[in-house]
Amino acid sequence: MKILHVDSSISGDSSLSKELSALAISHLRAVYPDAEVTYRDLVETPVNHLTGSIFAGFDGLKTGEFDAVTRQEHQLSERLVSEFLASNILVIGAPMYNFSISTQLKAWLDRIAQLGRTFNYTQNGTVGLAGGKCVIVVSVCGGFYSHGSQALMDFQEPYLCSFFKFLGINDIRFVRAEGTMKGELERSEGIKVAKAALSRVY
Ligand SMILES: Cc1cc2nc3c(=O)[nH]c(=O)nc-3n(C[C@H](O)[C@H](O)[C@H](O)COP(=O)(O)O)c2cc1C
Repeated sequence: MKILHVDSSISGDSSLSKELSALAISHLRAVYPDAEVTYRDLVETPVNHLTGSIFAGFDGLKTGEFDAVTRQEHQLSERLVSEFLASNILVIGAPMYNFSISTQLKAWLDRIAQLGRTFNYTQNGTVGLAGGKCVIVVSVCGGFYSHGSQALMDFQEPYLCSFFKFLGINDIRFVRAEGTMKGELERSEGIKVAKAALSRVY
């Protein structure tokens, strides 16, 4: 069993999404004691944003001459997509920033969406090539989006669901800690709900 654990919070040691994604990992370790867990903190070790020359290095697109720095970026893209494809379970710690995901998480997603590796265009439409895995997203947000008037402002869950479905993954599980900025009571209730959901998520 290979588990890929990705965090994307800018909050360092005080990050709640990191605390909760670590809890998801400890639940998974209890289920799969021999699991091989690969960890990426996308803020501690950021992935550079996609550029034309980095994109040109995606599999099947390698045209032209590239300098040493760009070739290193191509190698990193390859490492990231291979690591993602090799995983059976992906756990993502995803704080909500400005109604969506962190820029660091977006930069990582941009490296793993590769034509011919994780999706293909066919005569019958798009086919995802990364099926068979489970994605667990541990989402943390200051407000409430699972219900009420702000639900339409959640561009995190619909985006991540669409993204991973596009890559062929249908088993996408969301655990939310909501209301973390709404006051002490709401925050502790949000954390309690998320922890209970995490214990049942897999
Ligand atoms: C830059 C920034 C933008 C944020 N934007 C939102 C937002 O759009 N909606 C929301 O509910 N909370 C927002 N928050 C609150 C965070 O989602 C909340 O603090 C969460 O705990 C962050 O997760 P972390 O502790 O893992 O960093 C934002 C926080 C920061 C720092």
